[in-house]
Amino acid sequence: MSAKSQEPKEEVALELKGIRKSFGEKKVHQGVSFQLKRGEILGLFGGSGTGKSVVLRSIIGLEQPDEGEIWFGGTDVSKLSEEEMTPVRTRMAYVFQNGALFDSLTVEENLSYPLQEHTKMTESQIKKKVNEMLELIDMVGSNDLLPAELSGGMQKRAGLARAIILDPEVILFDEPTAGLDPVNTKRLIGNILKLKKRGITGIFVTHDIPAAFEIADRIAILYNGKIHVIDSVDEIKKSKDPLVQSFVSGTFED
Ligand SMILES: Nc1ncnc2c1ncn2[C@@H]1O[C@H](COP(=O)(O)OP(=O)(O)O)[C@@H](O)[C@H]1O
Ligand SMILES: [Mg+2]
Repeated sequence: MSAKSQEPKEEVALELKGIRKSFGEKKVHQGVSFQLKRGEILGLFGGSGTGKSVVLRSIIGLEQPDEGEIWFGGTDVSKLSEEEMTPVRTRMAYVFQNGALFDSLTVEENLSYPLQEHTKMTESQIKKKVNEMLELIDMVGSNDLLPAELSGGMQKRAGLARAIILDPEVILFDEPTAGLDPVNTKRLIGNILKLKKRGITGIFVTHDIPAAFEIADRIAILYNGKIHVIDSVDEIKKSKDPLVQSFVSGTFED
């Protein structure tokens, strides 16, 4: 066997097994199970308040399931302490609605920050990486601008760049296009498609069904605390299941 074939080549990047989570009387997850395969983008649909964000927050350890397991890199990360979770978090990215840039830092300083904190890269290596990311998000030359000088769309794209600059193994997108106008939505989707060509792995939570069909390989629908269905985009589009059809046609009502 060559050295290469001996490298661990996990097909599954992430697996949730039987996740249960309640907030007081409210049962949010009642046995959520699914696998995220390496190299795929899984679109996650569900009505508002069904627990999509809690799924993502549980994966990065901001919520702890009451029951169940979350396997990532050979570890059930749902059982880790806050301290043990810190290094795991640098291997994942959480891209949420408000890009979360530091207001007092320039775009370049914002993007450099994770690299300075978590890598041993030299200043010139960092500068090169930052400029590569700015190219990816169509923001070449914006290095010295402050967040307040950016449009809403640029702030989101810069937030995306900052979230993924450490080349995470898994990217969790929580409604990244929410609140964007159609032009900026299209740009952000274009950026994510560029990332997809590089082979990222991630979960994409959205209400934007056409965007999900463009970006995702498979779709999962969270309903009544469980994954109602998980299948390829083509199979989801062809599904005869009334609930699936209501999502596909955009007529699903919470
Ligand atoms: N930290 C929390 N404390 C109490 N209730 C919460 C908390 N986080 C989420 N919830 C509740 O859990 C449910 C699912 O929330 P969420 O995952 O944000 O839904 P969505 O699918 O819209 O992202 C909602 O009813 C929400 O009110
Ligand atoms: Mg949410």
